[in-house]
Amino acid sequence: MIAKTIYGLEETLSQELQRLGAKDVEIHNRAVSFVGDKGFMYKANLCLRTALRVLVPIETITVYNEKSLYEAIQSIDWEKYMDVNDTLAIDTVLNSEQFTHSQYVSQKAKDAIVDQFRAKHNVRPDVDLDKPTIRIHLHIFHDVCTVSLDSSGESLHKRGYRDKTNLAPINEVLAAGLVILSGWDKRTNFIDPMCGSGTILIEAALYANNIPPGYFREDFGFMRWHKFMPFDEELWDTIFDAAVNKITNHEQKIIGGELSPNVAKKAKENIKLAKVDDVVSIRNCDMKDFEVPSGRGVVIINPPYGERMVKDNIEELYKMMGDTFKQKFAGYNCWILSSNMEAFKHVGLRPTRKITLFNGQLECKFQKYEIYEGTKKIHKLEGRKD
Ligand SMILES: C[S@@+](CC[C@H](N)C(=O)[O-])C[C@H]1O[C@@H](n2cnc3c(N)ncnc32)[C@H](O)[C@@H]1O
Repeated sequence: MIAKTIYGLEETLSQELQRLGAKDVEIHNRAVSFVGDKGFMYKANLCLRTALRVLVPIETITVYNEKSLYEAIQSIDWEKYMDVNDTLAIDTVLNSEQFTHSQYVSQKAKDAIVDQFRAKHNVRPDVDLDKPTIRIHLHIFHDVCTVSLDSSGESLHKRGYRDKTNLAPINEVLAAGLVILSGWDKRTNFIDPMCGSGTILIEAALYANNIPPGYFREDFGFMRWHKFMPFDEELWDTIFDAAVNKITNHEQKIIGGELSPNVAKKAKENIKLAKVDDVVSIRNCDMKDFEVPSGRGVVIINPPYGERMVKDNIEELYKMMGDTFKQKFAGYNCWILSSNMEAFKHVGLRPTRKITLFNGQLECKFQKYEIYEGTKKIHKLEGRKD
């Protein structure tokens, strides 16, 4: 199988897979391949925090042009995977000189499949982009096309806990990845002082208490499969119950801060929907006035990147983050995710780690600042040229 992820989270996903018990785990670009059975496929969909989709490859075909693509897709016996009354959808990812339009490739492949059914039955299966019986995934790398069934259906970042919102929250898979990458030990304090709709806090609470990220989802693609790897409800229930039995109830302090009262209200609602309002609390305040609980911990901030702000304000905001770290967060490991390399310089502290990640189309750095008590001098930017 192949679990897809966000650039920069491959290693984290491979560790998650190994911990879950996958075999032959191998890292690729934005993906990790592994071996497992049907039960493991259910477990992977339910429990992986940093996977976007879990694919089951069914054929590898060679495709040179439109005609050979059509013929190669037709050479697959699609009745092994679906009936004529079933529905299908096709997603295509391209890295090829011959093919440049993924939608066009999906269209051609769909024609090949429905024509195969029409030739046999005089009727053709329909397309359903929302909840098809089978979602097919084509990955074309040069002239090699891997044809997979998408066992997840909707992308796994759609956890099912969030209300529809007009805010632009960080992707849940990326948020979970940040929490894991930060090395937080699940016991000390966890703070996001610019929490927006609360995604990072919710993912931290799910992670800390072993709540499977798929716990709230009612639908996975594999639940509609009835020919190939037919859905085994009993097996799914067993896997689900086993994961739920591992949920713990720790008493960490997971705290969010948010400047906008409306956004803070939305964060509180989301935290309730994710049923983690017993461990996560939200304060409506400016980060510079945030009252930091005593002890140690981790801070993760996904601040504004500055696309809609004047330069001076964004520089001031990043300076405020650095100053606040120094003044209030002694004993904490503080992390910032941003695509704004210029603004990073105004934090005024030397990062001890820099990790490249993609937030949507934006290349970002996830930078770590270790704030020690009484060693502020070490972290001052004085004399720094880079
Ligand atoms: C990019 S958004 C965070 C999105 C969040 N990770 C999510 O998933 O919804 C940045 C947030 O920081 C808030 N913010 C900006 N300046 C702030 C400040 N000085 N103190 C606290 N929050 C601030 C903004 O209102 C905004 O909601």
